[in-house]
Amino acid sequence: MKEAVEERNKFLREEIARLKKEKNALIMAHYYQRDEIQEIADFIGDSLALARQAAQTDADVIVMCGVHFMGETAKILCPDKTVLVPDLAAGCSLADSCPPEEFEEFVKAHPDHTVVSYVNTSAAVKALTDIVVTSGNARQIIDQLPEEEKIIFGPDRNLGEYINSETGRRMLLWKGACHVHDRFSLEKILEMKREHPGAKILVHPECRRPLQLVADKVGSTAALLKFAREDDAKEYIVVTESGILFEMRKKCPGKTLLAAPAEDAECQCNECDFMKLNTLEKVYEALRDGAPEIKVDEEVARKALRPIERMLAMS
Ligand code: 13P
Ligand code: SF4
Repeated sequence: MKEAVEERNKFLREEIARLKKEKNALIMAHYYQRDEIQEIADFIGDSLALARQAAQTDADVIVMCGVHFMGETAKILCPDKTVLVPDLAAGCSLADSCPPEEFEEFVKAHPDHTVVSYVNTSAAVKALTDIVVTSGNARQIIDQLPEEEKIIFGPDRNLGEYINSETGRRMLLWKGACHVHDRFSLEKILEMKREHPGAKILVHPECRRPLQLVADKVGSTAALLKFAREDDAKEYIVVTESGILFEMRKKCPGKTLLAAPAEDAECQCNECDFMKLNTLEKVYEALRDGAPEIKVDEEVARKALRPIERMLAMS
């Protein structure tokens, strides 16, 4: 059985390499993707790096191994390219927590506010936005806005609270959350810390405020990776989706990296089911068939491009 799986995976890897050349395709993967996808990707990164890479690639086809909003961002930046997401059902609970019609009402109710949206949103929400941010540049971009500027920040309330606390701003927050990061509990992390007193705590800002407060480092996936690589501790408790451990272990040989469990978890990690929908088989099929393809309404894409470009210019 194991041999048959290995044989199939070998075939898939070879076919993917062949098709990639034939179609001038670029495979990009987020750090939360399955290990075997990160392994074959031409580029892996956080949401910001994926957007930047999409904006500058000369490939004809982008296979975005991530979730739907990442594919949409790439398509908005590269309307003439074919953007494939291996499984279009790979959504995002955070993006879903901000329905465009409701967000539009919220924006209309505060006409004197600048609208800053996290990249984990639909294209329709981005079209209502002045500046898009990611967890990798949110603080840096907000710091560039005048202190007196009134800001709506959506949809992640935890990231919004983090920026408000760090900067003393009073951004108006949309109360959305990611079901994966919202599921980490302070109690479980403190229990782990008691068992590993020398371990440093790395926390993604999509986690709740109490976890941010006990963190040695709060940051995007790329920022947590950088910290773990450059810091001199031997052990880390990693409070984000556990897919990141694949790259972190490669980048931090000799260090102990402990996945943090969710509040209600029976296992010792916390995975995003949406991210894990993409498989090697589906990457192969997407390249072979040129589908499933991301499509964005032209008018929505036109409006959503401006705040994404503003983000890229400001970070
Ligand atoms: P970053 O990789 O930008 O930190 O984003 C985390 C995330 O939740 C992506 O879905
Ligand atoms: Fe969305 Fe959370 Fe999954 Fe990231 S980890 S894709 S924010 S549901």
